Amino acid sequence: MNFAVIKNLRIVASSIHQLNFKMEIPKLKITFLFKHMSKTSKHFATRAIHQAYNPLDHHGALTPPMHISSTYAFENVEQGGAAFEGDNDRFIYARLGSPSQQLLEKRMASLEHAEAALATASGMGAITSAIWSFLKPGDELIADLSLYGCTFSFFEHGLKPMGIEVTYVNLSNTEALTQAISEKTKLVYSETPSNPNMRLVDIEALAHIAHQHDAKLMIDNTYCTPYLQQPITLGADLVVHSATKYLGGHGDLIAGFVLGAQEDIDHIRMFGLKDMTGAVISGFDVSLLLRGLKTLHVRMDRHCKNAQKVAEYLSQSPHVKNCFFPGLSDFAQQALAQKQMKAPGAMIAIELHATREQSAAFVNAMQMILCAVSLGDAETLIQHPASMTHSTYSEEELLAHLISPNLIRLSVGLEHVDDIIADLDQAFSSVFGDKGLAISA
Ligand SMILES: Cc1ncc(COP(=O)(O)O)c(C=O)c1O
Repeated sequence: MNFAVIKNLRIVASSIHQLNFKMEIPKLKITFLFKHMSKTSKHFATRAIHQAYNPLDHHGALTPPMHISSTYAFENVEQGGAAFEGDNDRFIYARLGSPSQQLLEKRMASLEHAEAALATASGMGAITSAIWSFLKPGDELIADLSLYGCTFSFFEHGLKPMGIEVTYVNLSNTEALTQAISEKTKLVYSETPSNPNMRLVDIEALAHIAHQHDAKLMIDNTYCTPYLQQPITLGADLVVHSATKYLGGHGDLIAGFVLGAQEDIDHIRMFGLKDMTGAVISGFDVSLLLRGLKTLHVRMDRHCKNAQKVAEYLSQSPHVKNCFFPGLSDFAQQALAQKQMKAPGAMIAIELHATREQSAAFVNAMQMILCAVSLGDAETLIQHPASMTHSTYSEEELLAHLISPNLIRLSVGLEHVDDIIADLDQAFSSVFGDKGLAISA
């Protein structure tokens, strides 16, 4: 590994002082020294809009410049050589970062209360870059039973053939981790809530157990975003995101993040990303994400409000066997949700009193709601995991990973909630032939 470049990276990171930004770890104390902001800690919404950028340093431009240059010029060989040695703070090549990417990373790190962030070309780019950086043949990764389909495929087809052991454990049961973990376990991995079936894990309890065994806890925080849940403040070592979802928020980009301690993020940038995955975010997507983050809190509030009403409607339907949503009083893990999430989010999973075919027919019967994978967009999206996102699972794997054939996943969007409910209602009527339940919300 090129330690000179790592040294350089640390200096580049420290050049954030040029932006008059200072972040103190431990986690919750963040100080701003911008000319146009007071010296007090600012709220999430304010940091999402202002963090690490002063328009007055950029001709007054409120929108930060978009850097799309792939390479960076030096005055001479000596200056270039010093950059590689880490003796100045020049940018070198876009695979290592750019000024606008650095701004995005500082802003996102502030929102997650992480020491550092790395923006990547996709959520899978974040997950693969991070995991390749820490595991070697003979190591073990313990993962929760429920995972996004491509994460599961990566574990099965990327890690296992390389001699890395992957053990799936029901991490909702903390005791199960205590039983399974051993000295070869280097990483514990979970989503919470999980995709697609909305199971939660207790981040604080898992972190405690992982740390007793010198393992890292990595949490996929895609469903919550840092607005609803901040795993690092609960003890997680690494957080990953598909920024394609709520962080971008408009379905017009693919991107990801890894967040954690500066040392870990430097290692992922210089090893997993630079040398292994090359999953570098484009300058255009950096700009779109900076824009998306500015409205994250407003969008999330409305997503959550809509989802609460949709979940209450669904839970009353005679065709719904189970409605999994942390905001419902009968949600099995409601106490945990209240402990670690600011609000229940906007993802809902339902199991219908129906066959696999009828469940697919219900999805097909939507008129406004779109049948699509992905989530976190303004549009309400519905999909049938057994046929779509998790279709690579065998029947046995679906069973083992708690994905029933009649499970349907809903990403509640920003349309008027009455129209979302009306569409679900007409779909129930169309498939099951009875009168709908729709209530004016
Ligand atoms: C929970 C979760 N993690 C990771 C990913 C992968 O993200 P991306 O599609 O941005 O690569 C997804 C994608 O749907 C996801 O839902």
